[in-house]
Amino acid sequence: MRLLVLLSGEHPTLPRSEVLAALEALGVRFKIAEEAEQVLVLEGDFKREEVARLAERVAMAHYFGELCFSCEASHEEVLSSARRADYSFDGSFAVRVHRVRHHAEHLSTERLEREIGAVIASRGKKVNLSAPENLIAGIISERFYLARVLARVDRSAYEERRPHLRPYFRPGVLLPRLARAVVNLTRVRPGERFADPFCGTGGILIEAGLVGAEVYGFDLEEEFLSGAELNLRHYGIERYHLSHGDARTLWERYPEYFHAIACDPPYGISASTKGLSLERLYEESLASIYRMLIPRRYACVLAPSEVDVEGYASSAGFGIEEVHLERVHRSLVRKIVVLRKWR
Ligand SMILES: C[S@@+](CC[C@H](N)C(=O)[O-])C[C@H]1O[C@@H](n2cnc3c(N)ncnc32)[C@H](O)[C@@H]1O
Repeated sequence: MRLLVLLSGEHPTLPRSEVLAALEALGVRFKIAEEAEQVLVLEGDFKREEVARLAERVAMAHYFGELCFSCEASHEEVLSSARRADYSFDGSFAVRVHRVRHHAEHLSTERLEREIGAVIASRGKKVNLSAPENLIAGIISERFYLARVLARVDRSAYEERRPHLRPYFRPGVLLPRLARAVVNLTRVRPGERFADPFCGTGGILIEAGLVGAEVYGFDLEEEFLSGAELNLRHYGIERYHLSHGDARTLWERYPEYFHAIACDPPYGISASTKGLSLERLYEESLASIYRMLIPRRYACVLAPSEVDVEGYASSAGFGIEEVHLERVHRSLVRKIVVLRKWR
């Protein structure tokens, strides 16, 4: 089957990496067949339950669907491909066409919905625009894609977990969609041990707990640890361990113990680094994180772009897998660095 993923447009590189990492974490074999802006088409022997698990797992995508066809983004090509395609589904349907940014503005989404709908209806399928049993999604990107939606990402669940709605809140916490993407970039599997050595109020731990990992959080502030506990319990996460600890020395307690590690260390206000320079904090923490991680596994570290995470991580022994940049506000660009311990 060819599986189409409509990626969210919230970041230029993270959504694609998150989906590919989640596939790896779930042990799903696939090849990339096609790519366009906000579109990934994957080739593989995908089972229905795997697609459902993927949609539950990722944050930065809208839906996963079975590809009917892809073609040049011209009206004639879309219509002739629609006439040649197979529509082997049961029950009613509706066609919805979505344009990614400004692609192929000569195509009218309403007209395509009507005309593709008429082709499918001519095969004996029943149209139901208000409550269709099958959603047939058209996407206009560099090319045109038509797919039957199999599973949707519940984006509103992430909105409901926004930090200020939690029992314990402090400003400066990652939003849940980014925290979930960071967890996915570590490729952690359900049941495995996941650590955040700078856990604060537990934002990353919540998302790791919700994907089924056993979570370990450490912080220098007792108050944050109590807050993180309230938050984890609030979301029904039971397998958690929270303890006071300095990220720079945790490896002494947990050598090669964790399957995955992610963290969002302080960004520079000296109160938050306990007077230590940002450089020393990152350098010593990355060396510790390397030693805490099981070989061949991944870590994901967030930092202001001017911190040389890549340099400290390489010195510690890590391979640099990916670097994503994100503008947080005018004076802060954050980087999200994915690291792998090869040996
Ligand atoms: C940016 S916050 C983390 C926010 C967290 N992701 C959340 O959801 O609340 C950084 C945290 O690192 C902690 N911290 C600072 N230095 C530390 C160290 N050496 N070891 C462990 N934690 C430290 C701070 O107390 C703070 O809670």
